[in-house]
Order: sequence, then structure tokens, then C-alpha cells
Amino acid sequence: MTEQPSNVLEIIQQSMELPEIGHGQEATVYPLAGLPDYVLRVRDDADHRLHTTTQLTPVNYGFDHHAIAPPLVQGEGFSIHPRQPGKSLTLYWQDLARSNQTNEGMEKPEADTKAYEKIMQLLANLPQEQYQVFLEDMNFLTTLRRGIEPLGDNIMLSDATMRWVDPGHNPLNNHLGNVEKMLFQFDLNSAGHKTTEIKALQEQISTKLQEAARLTHTPMNEAEVAKMIPKHHKFEIKHAISEISLLPLSATPVALRETLNRVENHIRREF
Ligand SMILES: Nc1ncnc2c1ncn2[C@@H]1O[C@H](COP(=O)(O)OP(=O)(O)O)[C@@H](O)[C@H]1O
Ligand SMILES: [Mg+2]
Repeated sequence: MTEQPSNVLEIIQQSMELPEIGHGQEATVYPLAGLPDYVLRVRDDADHRLHTTTQLTPVNYGFDHHAIAPPLVQGEGFSIHPRQPGKSLTLYWQDLARSNQTNEGMEKPEADTKAYEKIMQLLANLPQEQYQVFLEDMNFLTTLRRGIEPLGDNIMLSDATMRWVDPGHNPLNNHLGNVEKMLFQFDLNSAGHKTTEIKALQEQISTKLQEAARLTHTPMNEAEVAKMIPKHHKFEIKHAISEISLLPLSATPVALRETLNRVENHIRREF
């Protein structure tokens, strides 16, 4: 068993030894050792800079705390975020498809199709309210002139929740057409054909999505979202929170937890 980390530097080092939660074009994300509600995101170009960090800076990106898992503290090339439950849609699908082949002995096309069906089942079973929260969070990004990145690996799915990660910079992305595309066609090419079951599940999902869009006034397409983007930023894109002290890497795990809580409370107060 790994020893309990005694300071923030050791937490970071141990986290990077854990199996990653996911990675994308820019970064790899790990569970934060000893603090299960958070993740460590390390930029792939950070290697040479990690060692230059001596303290963590509390930051506020102007994202509502629960919405898109914003960074709470940052060092050179890495940051700590609230953890969104579940797995990304893409990873979920890949893991299921692989397990269908290795554990169930299915041929690839069947393994892919069955995995796709399973994801559609999960989505169809999600509570209606989750669809509303999901769209509200996307619409909230529009008010900040930020955008979703419409890729399946930026949607986190669990049995009970569907949340975003990794916001981008184009608010024109924030419309229902994109969301449908992300949910239904995230890997359709390799997922074989749409079975009758898949089509039926997609109808259920569409119904939930449409109802959520109506309740949250979600724009349907790019032309509609274009009219909703504010001319000015409500917040600066990012600022250090001067009221909360910098956290040295020699600080204790308890101090890290306290700082993360304080940042979350600080951000929450602004909304
Ligand atoms: N806050 C988070 N909670 C849980 N998993 C996350 C979180 N942020 C990212 N991930 C996982 O890590 C992957 C890569 O992170 P992301 O920030 O999207 O990096 P990139 O910019 O390289 O795409 C995501 O696709 C997702 O699976
Ligand atoms: Mg990503």
C-alpha cells in the first residue's frame, strides 16, 4: 500500500501514479489521491514545468461551481477540479465494447453495437431533471461567452447524472442540435448499425431532451444561440482569488482540503 501523503507535493506525485480517469488532446486527468471529490488535470506539455511550481494559486474562472468542474487551484501546467461522476461517453463506450469482445466473445461489430445500445439505455434511464441541469449548464456557458466542446469525451455519464467537463471558447456551439449529435453519433461509424432497440431508445432520449430544452429555453441551432450571446463578459475569463492565500506545496493535505472548500464557497457566493 502507498503511504499516506504528508504534503501537497506528495499528493500530486501519488495522484499521477494512479490509473488515469481520462485524457484528451491536451491533458490527462487523475483521481486526486486521498481526496475522492476532486481530480488532478495535468497538461501533456507540463512535464518540464511541474517542477517549477512551488505553490498553488486559488482561481475563479467565473463558472458556477457545479456547472463545468472549473479549476479551483492551479500550478504550472496542472490544476485541481471538482470530480464529475461517472465516465466520459466515449470511454464508457470503448470500455463496454472492449469488454463485450474479451469477456463475452462477441465479434467487433456486435460488440460495438451492443455497447452503443447500453449507452443509449443509460441515457434513456436518466432522470428527466438531469437533462434540465445539463442544458442549463450549457446555457450558462453562453452567458459567459464560453462554449461546450462537442465531443463525446467531454460528457460525463453515470447511472444518475450527466455533466460537462472541459469547456471551450466558442459559444456558438451551445445549442440543442450539437447536444443531440454528441449523444447519438459520438462514435456511430464504428458502432455498426442502429438496431430497432437503439432507435426506440433514441426516441425516448429525444423526448426527454426536447422537454428539457423547452423548460430551459435552450436554443435549437446556431442562429438561435447567436442572438443570445452577450456582448461583454460578465466576469474576467480567469482571476486569482486574492482573498484566499496561495498554498505552498509543502502544505498539509488538510490545508489543501480547506483551500479547495474555501475556493468552492467563494465561487458559489458570486452567483
Ligand atoms: N472534472 C472532471 N471530473 C471527472 N473526470 C474528468 C474531469 N475533467 C476531465 N475528466 C476526464 O478526463 C478527460 C480529459 O480531460 P479534459 O479536461 O477533457 O482534457 P482535454 O482538454 O485534453 O480534452 C475527460 O474526457 C474526462 O474523461
Ligand atoms: Mg476534453
